[in-house]
Amino acid sequence: MSDNHKELDEATGVHTTGHEWDGIKELNNPLPKWWLYSFYACIVWGIGYMIAYPAWPLLDGYTKGMLGYSQRAVVMSEVALAKKAQSKFRDELAKTSIEKIKTKPELLRFAMAGGKAAFGDNCAPCHGRGAQGSKGYPNLNDDDWLWGGKITDIQYTIRHGIRAADEDTRSNDMPKFGVEELLEPAQINEAAEYVLSLSGKSKDAAAAAKGKVIFEEQCAACHGDNGQGLQEMGGPTLRDAIWLYGRSKADVVKSIETGRGGIMPAWATRLDEVTIKSLAVYVHSLGGGT
Ligand code: HEC
Ligand code: HEC
Repeated sequence: MSDNHKELDEATGVHTTGHEWDGIKELNNPLPKWWLYSFYACIVWGIGYMIAYPAWPLLDGYTKGMLGYSQRAVVMSEVALAKKAQSKFRDELAKTSIEKIKTKPELLRFAMAGGKAAFGDNCAPCHGRGAQGSKGYPNLNDDDWLWGGKITDIQYTIRHGIRAADEDTRSNDMPKFGVEELLEPAQINEAAEYVLSLSGKSKDAAAAAKGKVIFEEQCAACHGDNGQGLQEMGGPTLRDAIWLYGRSKADVVKSIETGRGGIMPAWATRLDEVTIKSLAVYVHSLGGGT
């Protein structure tokens, strides 16, 4: 390409660069001013940045920059601040009685967040991510509590577990009526029909009537006279639609035969008191009683 190809374009009054492709010629327009100045500004800023901040790798490290800035130092000081704020809340949580926590909104928020995280780590494998439970593992969202739904009840349950290796554990074993032959299979069938009749699911009224007598003798001590449940015994209510081990006839028969005996671990030896408190606050918020 040589300068002789440059010419004045008549339509625009601008010189061409001399570049031409298949008859299409390139105009030699100057760069827009705003673009040019932004470009210069970027260069100046880039040089300034390299002087002020860490920029170039060296054989044994990097240029530190005149401001002495270091992301690591910033992160460290942020972590230290967060830790300090946490330990302030943890101390306060340790001192505050569990019933009082809900009167302190900031502390409550801290306890809820800690409880939720600890729940995900320790409890979700058995009770489910959303504490919805599954067969043999109680749902903690509903208002149905085996051992009581007051916040202090829940705290106790978490601390000492149920039928756990802890001398203060909650414990009451339903007899294994079938396994230990305490009742005949026919009697178990009748007791099961009676239990089902309490929620309107029995299909054999005659058997249920016989089962009522067995129930009053063998079962009422733990489940209440009318199967309404006794929380101080951990005896579940048998009248509602919430079943720990299932509500089919086969499930109910199996419960009577085996006594079930679910185990909830004790956490006092594995988690610190503040974490247990936070867990109790969190679980209570899901569906606890007063
Ligand atoms: C290994 C399984 C398992 C783990 C882990 C577990 N639980 Fe449980 N949990 C159970 C079982 C089983 C029961 C019911 C026991 C029964 O049949 O009476 C239960 C019962 C409970 C109850 C009593 C419910 C009621 O109706 O009274 C609470 C509260 C509870 N768990 C909270 C927790 C918390 C909080 C954690 C985590 C720190 C946790 N559980 C971890 C198995 C587990
Ligand atoms: C010594 C106390 C006790 C006696 C007596 C007892 N139960 Fe229970 N029963 C319990 C406990 C505690 C549970 C909960 C077991 C668990 O959580 O693992 C239970 C659970 C059950 C369940 C399962 C409930 C569910 O939600 O799935 C049924 C059904 C049941 N019992 C029926 C009976 C019948 C029928 C009798 C009498 C023949 C009886 N029980 C006698 C304490 C007792």
